[in-house]
Amino acid sequence: MASLPTTLVIFGASGDLTQRKLLPALFNLQRKGRLSGPLRIVGFARRPWSDDDFRAQLRAGLEQFAPKDFDPARWEAFAANIHYFRGDLTTAADFERLEQVLAALEGGPTHRLYYLATAPEYYNPIAGLLGSAGLAQEHGPEAGYRRLVVEKPFGHDLASARKLNEDVHASFGESQVYRIDHYLGKETAQNILFFRFANTIFEPIWNRNYVYSVQITVAEDVDVGHRAGYYDQSGVVRDMVQNHLLQLLTLVAMEPPASFNADAVRNEKVKVLAAVRPMSAEAVAHDTVRAQYRKYRDTAGVAPNSQTATYAAVRLHIDNWRWQGVPFYLRSGKALRAKRTEVNVQFRRPPHVLFNFPPGHRLSSNLLSICIQPDEGIHLRFEAKVPDSVLDTRSVDMDFHFRDSFGDGALPDAYERLLLDALNGDPSLFTRADEIERAWQITDPILAGWASPQAPPLTFYESGTDGPPEADNFIALDGRHWLTGCEH
Ligand code: BG6
Repeated sequence: MASLPTTLVIFGASGDLTQRKLLPALFNLQRKGRLSGPLRIVGFARRPWSDDDFRAQLRAGLEQFAPKDFDPARWEAFAANIHYFRGDLTTAADFERLEQVLAALEGGPTHRLYYLATAPEYYNPIAGLLGSAGLAQEHGPEAGYRRLVVEKPFGHDLASARKLNEDVHASFGESQVYRIDHYLGKETAQNILFFRFANTIFEPIWNRNYVYSVQITVAEDVDVGHRAGYYDQSGVVRDMVQNHLLQLLTLVAMEPPASFNADAVRNEKVKVLAAVRPMSAEAVAHDTVRAQYRKYRDTAGVAPNSQTATYAAVRLHIDNWRWQGVPFYLRSGKALRAKRTEVNVQFRRPPHVLFNFPPGHRLSSNLLSICIQPDEGIHLRFEAKVPDSVLDTRSVDMDFHFRDSFGDGALPDAYERLLLDALNGDPSLFTRADEIERAWQITDPILAGWASPQAPPLTFYESGTDGPPEADNFIALDGRHWLTGCEH
């Protein structure tokens, strides 16, 4: 079955994602010899392009976004298997025509991977039309698989995510569906499980007895740019918290699965999401901060009095034996000082201090920082005696950087791994239907609380800062502060 050729059909192929991410990832997979059989790419979009127009567009993308991997001779061979199909995403006849065109190109049994890279409102109709045109149906292993990759956002709330799951399932079985969260394709996110479960020294302390708090920060220096039309309807909770931050939380907080098989891993992720305490409207007022960068409303496409949050800080509680009483602080925002994604696990202070420190001396707690990006690595901060002092201590760091151990450029783009896994049929790094719905069950109450009279006030922050002062006050009320363990 693996030796059959594969056709990848990209819906919405004229967009940014194909040019910036998908094509560079596919080109690299081919260059590295990772593809198990011949791959044909068919771009489906509305623009009146020829095959050559489409190829030229993709080539320009490669030259711009992956210049160091670009090789003109290799490109010519690769481009020969790229085709363009002009069609409308909601017209049944175009899907019937697509089936004929694909069958003619393929000339025999072929695997097919359908990739939804369109605006999200097209996901439901495309899934339906693929089904009704007979493109989703599998006819046994010899005839090749039929798989569907769905980009985020998967729904804009629980109800729409459920509806999308239903519509997708009307044409495709769950085992045919691959929901993308590109954070799961990042090596540093995957490494959280290896760090926890391929070592023995951290797991015994990975619980409420030793951990004081967990902080997950996904800070971005970019603003909403030209995506205001989408972003103003979405905001930071839908755009980042519901997916990327909650996915990081599952990796940090899940129980060890019995095996590294896709369902075993995803079962544990679902359990941890199910244990996150849902917020009441009163809790939302107390457990969240929402803010907007000051220039946001000047952006074309943003409503003049938009209430959309571009920054959120959230305190979550996980009601299970491992994490009871350990707050999980999540924060994310746009137009901040720097791009930085990190998970900080703060440990409890020593239960008894035997050193005769001067009054006021306070030991810092140990801090384990998982640096997702940039400067990927893991840092452990602990206390050391200052040499040549009698009693002075200082926090010092033990650092692991991927680039030092594995070399520059060792970390592939997340899409390389995700596309390869979808082609090979490994769904471990994709979000299952129930997982997506659980995540919405956590964020829907936050969004409802923000739309209610008890909403915390929308506050504002200057671009290029670390966010609103209210977020500092929010965590200070718990006697804590935001931690950064990766910035050195
Ligand atoms: C996307 C969001 O899913 O992730 C964007 O829609 C965000 O708003 C991006 O900028 C961040 O991804 P990364 O990989 O740059 O951290």
